[in-house]
Order: sequence, then C-alpha cells, then structure tokens
Amino acid sequence: MPIKAKKSGYAKAKADKKKDAKPAFKSSAPVGQEAAPVRSGATPQVLRGMKDILPSEQKYWRFIYKKIESLARGYGYERIDTPIMEETGLFVRSAGKQSDVVEKEMFSFIDKGGENVTLRPEGTAPVARAYINHGMFSLPQPVKLFYIGPMFRYERPQHGRFRQHHQFGFEVFGDANPVIDAELILLAFLFYKDIGIKTIVHLNSLGCPNCRPIFTNELVAYYKPKRSQLCEDCKRRLAKNPLRLLDCKDPGCIALKEAAPHMVDSLDEDCKQKLMRVLEFLDDLQVPYVLDPHLVRGFDYYTRTVFEIVYAEETESGQPPVALGGGGRYDNLVEQLGGRPTPACGFGIGIERAILQMKQLQVEPPDDSRTEVFLAQLGDAARRKVFALFDDLRNANIRVSANLSKNALKGQLEAANKLGARYTIIIGQKEVLDGTILIRDMESGMQEIIDYNKAVADLKKKLGKID
Ligand code: HAM
Repeated sequence: MPIKAKKSGYAKAKADKKKDAKPAFKSSAPVGQEAAPVRSGATPQVLRGMKDILPSEQKYWRFIYKKIESLARGYGYERIDTPIMEETGLFVRSAGKQSDVVEKEMFSFIDKGGENVTLRPEGTAPVARAYINHGMFSLPQPVKLFYIGPMFRYERPQHGRFRQHHQFGFEVFGDANPVIDAELILLAFLFYKDIGIKTIVHLNSLGCPNCRPIFTNELVAYYKPKRSQLCEDCKRRLAKNPLRLLDCKDPGCIALKEAAPHMVDSLDEDCKQKLMRVLEFLDDLQVPYVLDPHLVRGFDYYTRTVFEIVYAEETESGQPPVALGGGGRYDNLVEQLGGRPTPACGFGIGIERAILQMKQLQVEPPDDSRTEVFLAQLGDAARRKVFALFDDLRNANIRVSANLSKNALKGQLEAANKLGARYTIIIGQKEVLDGTILIRDMESGMQEIIDYNKAVADLKKKLGKID
C-alpha cells in the first residue's frame, strides 16, 4: 500500500490557516465595532514589525540602559514611567492632525468602556500630560525627567523601522534658556559617544507663533504653483498645515523641497538670538553640528530649536541620513494641553537604531553575563556543598553557574567551557572529606587546592572583586 506523504510544516500551516477562515473564537467587541476573528491552529507568529529580544541580544540592552542611567544621574534627570496607553486625543492635540503619526501610524482602538485609546507612539506628550496632572509646576523648576520604554507606530517595517520600538527620552520643563537646548543636544551626543559611535547633529529653528506664519506664507507661495507635482497627502497639507510639506517622505516631494524657502530667513529677532546662543554653546561644548534649513520633524508641538542626531559618516556619504535620535523645544505644548504656560525641551533616541549602528560598526558591548565561576561536583555529598557555595558566591556578586543534574566531570567541564567560565571549582568525595575545593584556571589549565572556607575570598581576589 502506498504510504501517504506527511504534510510539510509549511503545507500544514497553510491548511490550518484555511481551516481558520471560520474563527474558532470571537472576542467581545465594543458596541458598533466588529470583532476580528481570532485565529487558532497554526503556531502564532510574532506580529509584523515587532520582535523578540532574545537572551543573546540582552547584553546590548543592558549596556545601553547602564549608559542612559549614568547620563541621567550625572546630569540630574529623574525617571518617570507613564502608561503605554493614553486617550487618543492626547496625541491628536499634541502631534497634530496632519502629522504622519496621527494620520497613518497610531495603534488606536475603542476599549470595552467605549473610550478611544492609543498605544503611545511617542513619549513627550504623555510626560507633558503627567507634568500637568501631578502639578509639577509647583516643584522647583526646571523639572528634568527621563523615560525608557516601548513606543508603537503602524509604519511600513524596514531596516531600523519597527512597529514596536523602544525609545528613551530626556525632557526639561520650566526653563526657556537656550543653554537647556544645548545641554539636551550635548546629552544625545554624549550618549552616542559613550557607546562608541561618532555622530553629528542636524539643527534648525522653527521659530515661534510670531514669526512662523510669515514662513508658512512663504512656503505656500513657493508650493502653490507646484501643487500638481505634490503627492495627494501634501496637496491636503498645503491647505491645512504647510510646514508638514517639508516632512514628506515621497521622493517627488523630497525633490521639490530642495529649493523651498528656509525658516531661518524668517525668524524674528528673539528667535534668531536664541538660535545663535544654542550654536555658541554647541561650539563651546565642541558638539559637531550642521544647520539643516529644511528640518521640521514630525510633530506639530515643536517651537524654535529642532534637531536630529545622525551617524557622522552617513552625513559625509551624501545619503539621506537615518535619524538615530531627535528632539527640540516645545514651549507651547503644556499650555496647549491645559497646563500653565511652561517652556520645555527634550529629545528621544531609538534603542533599536542605536544597537543596529553598534552592530554595523562592530562595537561589542562588554559581555557581563559571562559565567565567572563554574561549580562542578562528583556525587551527592559534593552536590550539597555546591548548593551552599553557589549561594555564597552569588551573594559575593560573582556570576556563577553549575549543572547539578550531570554526574560525569567531562560533561561538566564541557559546559564550563561553553559558558566561557574563567574558573571551575571541582568538589569530589575527597574534597568533601578534606573540607577543600579544587580550583581550575580555565585559561592556563593550572589547578590548586584550597580550604573550602576560603573559597569566596580567594575567588573574589582572583576576579579582582576586592571591595
Ligand atoms: P521621533 O523622531 O519620532 O521623536 O523619535 C525619536 C527616535 O526614535 C528616532 O530618531 C528614532 O531613533 C526612533 N524611532 C522612531 N520611530 C521608530 C521606529 N518606527 N522604529 C525604530 N525606531 C524609531 C519623538 O518621538 C519625540 N518624542 C522626541 C522628543 C522628545 N522630542 C522632544 N522630546
């Protein structure tokens, strides 16, 4: 009898998907909303544009978190965590209706209570909301905050662009002095310097409500005769929010931007002075920058200084640079959201982009998960000793591993090698009786026997962990 071929994994998944055309389960949906079918059968996959951060990647994340926290501590920023979900209106009112984020990229839905909510696409508006909600204007100003967390944007996934990315941001509330703009630009620059990446800052001023209308009129005058060459989005933007024309990613619109007017030519005296002050501070601090007269950034809340930080050699290559971070001043946002008039400034950096850049440049973070001491044992009595020693070493801040279910020494030494252990401690029957341990240096192969009670102190010394 012919044996029927088994379905391949792919064919099976396809067949399962077909079966799933009829949902196995329908989630409840708020009134007026159609519940999406919930698939079952085929193994669920991670969503497009999102990714798992596997153990092998964690050293990059730990390294970056440490650098962020050290910068924050050094410059007096305190951590704030806001929920990952907010009412949709917060982002519509802050980023602007015509921004790409609000028009196309928000993960918004109606919750079971009928509220229109959004997974945060960015961190500035939530932090400004928290500043108002918690009456932080009554604290000594400026209030300096930082955050780290996931952001969600329904973008077309590509190299360095995800639907869930992680961002850290630094924000300063209650200080209009341009030295704050310079400090924040310096911090973004120092972060990259600390992780071994040479960057350059692209900078512009968007003016204030006083001088911006003069510029937008000029923009309209420039673009109107070219309206037919604009993409459909930009045709709308021309009437509703002309500044957004400079932010369009359509190749045709990018080409038209080349000869568009520059905001710096329309700045009023105060804005001009403030821009000059920022540049002077950057010169003093030796932060490399270029003026980028068409930089507008993607959100409507910005006033005056806006900046993006890019990999230095990318600028030199003449290719459109990928932003490793960006930010600027947003002096009207707090008031716009119902708070007191409060000048503010900040920036955000995408952690995945920072890691990609590290990998491209082969910058290796220190591997702080590598086992320092492996504990090998022979027999049950030794196993009990290993349990106790494991905990003593762990409490002494030594990274320790063991494989207690293995009996043969050979297998345990192989495991120690795989983990890259610096030392292996071997405890057999003899060592249990003598109250000793055998320490093997995994690099030189040298072995020595020492007293069990001296093990922790001796290993701390060997590993340079004497406090
Ligand atoms: P943003 O430029 O939209 O600004 O995002 C900041 C950084 O997050 C970007 O420069 C990039 O490194 C990273 N990023 C943004 N979108 C993605 C994505 N889809 N995938 C991977 N990385 C991404 C803001 O969000 C502002 N809140 C920054 C700010 C803080 N302005 C003032 N204060």
